[in-house]
Amino acid sequence: MDSTTTAPFFVKPELTPERKDFYDRLATRNLAPLWEVFAALFPPQPAPQTQPVLWRYDEVRPLLFEGGQLLTPREAERRVLVLENPGLKGRHLATDALYAGLQLIMPGEFARAHRHTAAALRFIVEGENTYTAVAGERCYMRPGDFIVTPSWTWHEHRNESGEPTIWLDVLDVPLIRFLGAGFSEHYPEPQYPASVPPGDSHLRYGRNLFPVGFARGTGASPVFSYPFDYAYEALEHLREHSEWDACHGLKMEYIDPTTGGPAIPTLSTFLQLLPKGFATAPYRATPSCIVAVVRGSGRVTVGRGAVAATFDYGPKDLLAVPSWQHVAFSATEESVLFSASDEAVHRKLGVWREQRS
Ligand SMILES: [Fe+2]
Repeated sequence: MDSTTTAPFFVKPELTPERKDFYDRLATRNLAPLWEVFAALFPPQPAPQTQPVLWRYDEVRPLLFEGGQLLTPREAERRVLVLENPGLKGRHLATDALYAGLQLIMPGEFARAHRHTAAALRFIVEGENTYTAVAGERCYMRPGDFIVTPSWTWHEHRNESGEPTIWLDVLDVPLIRFLGAGFSEHYPEPQYPASVPPGDSHLRYGRNLFPVGFARGTGASPVFSYPFDYAYEALEHLREHSEWDACHGLKMEYIDPTTGGPAIPTLSTFLQLLPKGFATAPYRATPSCIVAVVRGSGRVTVGRGAVAATFDYGPKDLLAVPSWQHVAFSATEESVLFSASDEAVHRKLGVWREQRS
């Protein structure tokens, strides 16, 4: 039986005057009766505060530039508009479990070297010849590239081109904050020393080989950059030589090649292809996720019945999907979707669930 059709696990007792007086006296001793809060602590199914929301890139992009003009050059390294979910007002989060923002870096601009315990990913939306240096390796960006910034790893950004660069940041900030493990600091110098040439991590770890003595599985992928062309080539190949999944079309996960696990220990990342006219079967899973439309257009419905939200999506739009809500895409034009979710954490904790219908 579907868990959503089972009877409530617990029914809240009636609040009598005597009970209320007792509860009030408990409160003065920093105590609370479990039977009054049981349902909130043990809901029969996930009750995320996250709402389905779509950010239209055509609307966000000019605001990003407008915001950038309000900042001084010294402040310019923080040209980020946070994707703030309307269900999580004031918490600066895109979903209950994910921080996301769109970052603008103008020609010639530089963001100082820093690090934080929250792990980050960049997904490049527009611009070229800008780099994020991760642990001293410059990762040059092109649209559609996915770049890993592992927890507590020095990183800095510089735009060496004549055009602005915009990327999507997704971080595990809520998890790290919840765990009380949030630390951050700037490097003493503006720039962390370049330690290896660009492309080093891919050649060192990403060719189905790795150096003898390398300690596997100690953190995020040692490969920092996953170029779009490289990933899309795999999807193109599978288009002709694989079965289409009814719920996902063609969907590939970015992995740490040295472990087979997710590229970032706390964030799962995917690239997905939906051909023109393809409609996915409704699907839900416990992780929340952020979807970035790389190309294509169509319609997506999140949720079911009276609370369902339907959006028309286009290139570069961004979508927040709450935990345990059905999602169904209908591709008007062939669509390529990047997505990031907290699935990696759910799987590690043994709480991941999905429903394919
Ligand atoms: Fe950072």
